[in-house]
Amino acid sequence: MDGGLRNSLEAYWMPFTANRQFKAAPRLFVAAKDMHYTTADGRQVLDGIAGLWCCNAGHGRQKIVDAVSRQVAELDYSPAFQMGHPKAFELASRLAGLMAGDLDHVFFTNSGSESVETALKIALAYHRIRGEGHRTRLIGREKGYHGVNFGGMSVGGIPANRRMFGTLLAGVDHIRHTHNVPGNEFARGLPPNGAELADDLERLCALHDPSTIAAVIVEPVAGSAGVILPPKGYLERLRAICDRHGILLIFDEVITGFGRLGAPFAANYFGVQPDIVTTAKGLTSGVVPMGAVFVRKEIHDAFMTGPEHLIEFFHGYTYSGHPLACAAGLAALDIYEEEELLTRASRIGALWADTMHGLRDARHVIDIRTLGLIAAIELEPIAGAPTKRAFTAFLKAYEKGLLIRTTGDIIALSPPLIISEEQIATMAETLREVLGELD
Ligand SMILES: Cc1ncc(COP(=O)(O)O)c(C=O)c1O
Repeated sequence: MDGGLRNSLEAYWMPFTANRQFKAAPRLFVAAKDMHYTTADGRQVLDGIAGLWCCNAGHGRQKIVDAVSRQVAELDYSPAFQMGHPKAFELASRLAGLMAGDLDHVFFTNSGSESVETALKIALAYHRIRGEGHRTRLIGREKGYHGVNFGGMSVGGIPANRRMFGTLLAGVDHIRHTHNVPGNEFARGLPPNGAELADDLERLCALHDPSTIAAVIVEPVAGSAGVILPPKGYLERLRAICDRHGILLIFDEVITGFGRLGAPFAANYFGVQPDIVTTAKGLTSGVVPMGAVFVRKEIHDAFMTGPEHLIEFFHGYTYSGHPLACAAGLAALDIYEEEELLTRASRIGALWADTMHGLRDARHVIDIRTLGLIAAIELEPIAGAPTKRAFTAFLKAYEKGLLIRTTGDIIALSPPLIISEEQIATMAETLREVLGELD
């Protein structure tokens, strides 16, 4: 084996990556500051996707760097079980203060996937504690993405993420997705048609009997399947059906949390109160892995019974509430607050939408969707080669100094919340150039 670059790339099996394509022409970042990455060959790349929808405060923020550096020197690790450290409590309290309604208890995890597993387990255990152990079914939605662990994969609805992995969890079903509803093409903001798709939950209630259903989990805005927006009135309708049948409603806010829509969370933005909310990503602005699950007081309190020396919930991670993650989270919240970033998308969202919808006449574009600081540009697939056109767009954009993300034949955009008006214009100009060059 030679010790050259090719072999040094070989050992790392990259996640959700076309490994062979990557290793034949690697794309390596070596530094990042504010809105830009620096590549190994010294180019600046504008970050159009906040890393992976997570670096909401932008990159290399000094306040977070300092907080994490101080923390690692002061207290590197504290056991997560039967012990605590002050910053975990401080962060949980501050987070509860940001969240809508009475979702005022926070369980820490290390990722979005773990937040989802945690939420599903809380839902099942909650019903069982209340004497409704017959509620064991979990309902997801087609095209949903809830991470890659078995619970999340089971309630998830992206076929490629499921098909290799056997029968998954038993007792899971899915309501229909809200993509490509006729009349919603090029809608700005929430699409007008399709609220009645929420009634699909009634179909599953009739099929399984609602008394067997523990929880429904949806992304208020679905990201991974290509930015699918909830039709006007859809989430309200889902909430009403859950209320009617005693089913918990879980919002997976791993991408919508921390300001993406112009409010701290989608629950605040839509004014719809879920029972449990899963988050991660923007919690630390992507700097240290961390997730948080928010639960309503009533759910939390249901667990706080029985002898006080006994553990109430047999669940947790070695790194739940890790001191470095808490330090990063607190510093990120400081930046969000000082720079009013969690509401910035509400101020810049109209310009963002105008600019992105300006690409309507660009080549291959069949739909554009925008909400907050999110956009999807859907391309006509190449006949017989789905995903190829968008993947080529991704490679060309990278060459031209813009980082985008593609899923299927959809370009998804979600820049850091600090993006300037000029940088929004630059993104659109680069995209127009890229689309013009595609076969
Ligand atoms: C809605 C949603 N849930 C869960 C996840 C999984 O998060 P992680 O990759 O941190 O496990 C993601 C990741 O993109 C997501 O978008």
